[in-house]
Amino acid sequence: MVTISYVAAYTFFFLALVAFLFMKKHKRKPQENLKLPPGSMGWPYIGETLQLYSKDPNIFFASKQKRYGEIFKTHLLGCPCVMLASPEAARFVLVTQAHLFKPTYPRSKERMIGPWALFFHGGGYHLRLRKLVQGSLGPDDLRGLIPDVEAIVITMLDAWNGRVLSTFHAMKKFSFDVAILTFFGDRLSERHKVELKKNYFIVDKGYNSFPTNFPGTPYYKAIQARKQLSRILSEIMNERRERGVVGNDDLLGCLMDSKDEKGARLTDDQIADNIIGVLFAAQDTTASVLTWIVKYLHDHPKLLEAVKGEQMAFLEANKSCGNRPLTWTQTRSMTLTHRVIMESLRMASIISFTFREAVADVEYKGYLIPKGWKVMPLFRNIHHNPEFFPNPHEFEPSRFKVAPKPNTYMPFGNGNHACPGNELAKLEMLVLIHNLVTKYRWEIVGTCSEIEYSPFPVPKHGLPVKLWRLSTNAENN
Ligand code: HEM
Repeated sequence: MVTISYVAAYTFFFLALVAFLFMKKHKRKPQENLKLPPGSMGWPYIGETLQLYSKDPNIFFASKQKRYGEIFKTHLLGCPCVMLASPEAARFVLVTQAHLFKPTYPRSKERMIGPWALFFHGGGYHLRLRKLVQGSLGPDDLRGLIPDVEAIVITMLDAWNGRVLSTFHAMKKFSFDVAILTFFGDRLSERHKVELKKNYFIVDKGYNSFPTNFPGTPYYKAIQARKQLSRILSEIMNERRERGVVGNDDLLGCLMDSKDEKGARLTDDQIADNIIGVLFAAQDTTASVLTWIVKYLHDHPKLLEAVKGEQMAFLEANKSCGNRPLTWTQTRSMTLTHRVIMESLRMASIISFTFREAVADVEYKGYLIPKGWKVMPLFRNIHHNPEFFPNPHEFEPSRFKVAPKPNTYMPFGNGNHACPGNELAKLEMLVLIHNLVTKYRWEIVGTCSEIEYSPFPVPKHGLPVKLWRLSTNAENN
């Protein structure tokens, strides 16, 4: 009996050992069983960069999706990439598994903006900066800004009256002026404003140029101008400190006032990088969408009449109150205009995609996303998918009478890097549309079917438009 149980125990131990050794030999990390997503990697090093930039990038992405489905691989600008074209995949990368993906930007851009800008970071530093930026763009701050934003719009449209201007350039100036107002309040001296503007626009010009740092190149000039911006911002901060009024009612004041849990303040470099970073995030994005709104309204005369009807009611109400500016409550009740903005953001999808980098090997739906690969959620493909937005190429604001399906509408991104400036951007659009449709008519000069990238898509030549002020009678009709 003893012998039998001894043999059984021995046999069991022997089999367990064999099974353990066999499993150890054949055991693979889960990733080793996974395959890369379908797709093509193109030529060595340059990959498919030429295919991407030789035509409209959106055609490149759309044709890839048609061929390979919602997840596919490619190789761009020297980096292997995985592109994701479904709402679930975008949510996976940006929200539910965001810790497995870090923000990533080319070194040349990081150098130009400044390495301390919040969107280059994750973790505690990012959270702290994000709270500060969001805190300075809350409803109370925006409510107080409306009269000044409206004054900027009125000045811009007055200067445009009777002339042909590039809509995009006019809108860039508008969004720059609003950003300066939001970040510095009304405390900025005219001299600093002029110096900031001059140097900012040199940086802006070099930002998307080829990064060759030789005297005379746009990139070199931009780097020099970027140094000037740091100097000007230090001067502004020092003046505030000397006067003993840092203030926390604008972004600069919030950044200067902030202390971490150990009582440490942000350095001047950290503050400057973030002011310049947020300025970059705010300006071309808003200006591009505003340009598309002017075009879409022009191309849809019936819709324009309906929007004008909605806006005239507010104009008349304000006239009867002694020409008061728009109120916060009014901007919250512009139902049709708001749908026009939502549809413009969807149609134009000016941020077609964003970049992250996998910080570990990641499995998604049986595919491997290798560590170090770039990952690109394709917002535009999702916004133009007929499954979520029927007749996606039709400009149809009424589709927003019903809320879009969850995670299918992300013009401002998703997750912990989503846009903190979205309410300010929408406010700028509402105030512009109100003044444009109630007081002006406009015509597009030349053809505008082609698109250029500046760096976001806008109609060719920035949409040249001639604008006329309506007579007071017409204004009242
Ligand atoms: C129509 C105009 C705008 C659009 C379409 C837009 C879109 C976006 C998108 C898609 C992101 C997320 C990028 C990503 O996840 O990688 C983003 C981030 C950001 N946006 Fe905007 N944006 C607009 C206007 C603004 C404005 C007016 C401001 C500031 C006043 C602003 C400040 C920022 C900042 C600071 C970030 C980075 C946030 C972070 O990393 O935590 N944006 N924006």
